[in-house]
Amino acid sequence: MAGRDRGPFIAGNWKMNLTLPEARGLAQKIVEAGAELRESTIVLFPPFTALAAVGGTLAGSAIGLGAQDLFWEDQGAYTGEVSGPMLKEAGCAYVLIGHSERRQVFGETDETVNRKLGAALRSGLSPIVCVGEVLAERESGRTIERIDAQLAAGLRGFAPEDLERVVLAYEPVWAIGTGKTASPGQAEEVHAHVRRRLEERYGKDRASCAIILYGGSVKPANSYPLFKEKNIDGFLVGGASLDAGGFVGIAGEALRAYREEK
Ligand code: PGA
Repeated sequence: MAGRDRGPFIAGNWKMNLTLPEARGLAQKIVEAGAELRESTIVLFPPFTALAAVGGTLAGSAIGLGAQDLFWEDQGAYTGEVSGPMLKEAGCAYVLIGHSERRQVFGETDETVNRKLGAALRSGLSPIVCVGEVLAERESGRTIERIDAQLAAGLRGFAPEDLERVVLAYEPVWAIGTGKTASPGQAEEVHAHVRRRLEERYGKDRASCAIILYGGSVKPANSYPLFKEKNIDGFLVGGASLDAGGFVGIAGEALRAYREEK
């Protein structure tokens, strides 16, 4: 199925937020809204400590569970880290890799992204690999160059069939948590470019099936025009995913755009 032939993919990245009761409560509200969002794929990314609790709330629903990061080794003396097999055991189907906060605050590089991608695939998790330029790169006309470098190094060494489970997320760093969203045109330009690059590496069929998310200050008010763009298949939502109404609103607006196209 081509990326655009299926409903929107909406991921909620809760970052380092919410107590356990709050996390369960938010997940419960999203489960209750699930029937309205049936044609979409919804995945929640709570902190590690809330994975079990949220997984329990999501059990029996169509909403998926994911983690915000993983380590590239499967086990061993790596104090503080969590591995792919551990995330699988905790009920995760997805994992975020290379989020810009991990790159900027925790020194992650394209090399670590590449190793983590291997670990995720080996563990049977679907990775969501994040790429995006900082403001200085956009302002100096180096956006595409940056995205190309992240894709080339991050995806190095994988076979086309390995990539069938990979979701990509374009998140301009200047738009994350700032209230500044990329315009639909700005986002589409990068999404179309990412798809062209995937096509060069993995062929037209795989590229057209790839899911490419946009992230960066997505809200119910900008979800519809962004999803109208041909190469935007859904969203990675941060701040607005902490509020059930906002998150469900984003999914609902993307679905409205999707249904109009069908
Ligand atoms: P935001 O975050 O929606 O708060 O901008 C997006 C993200 O970090 O994934």
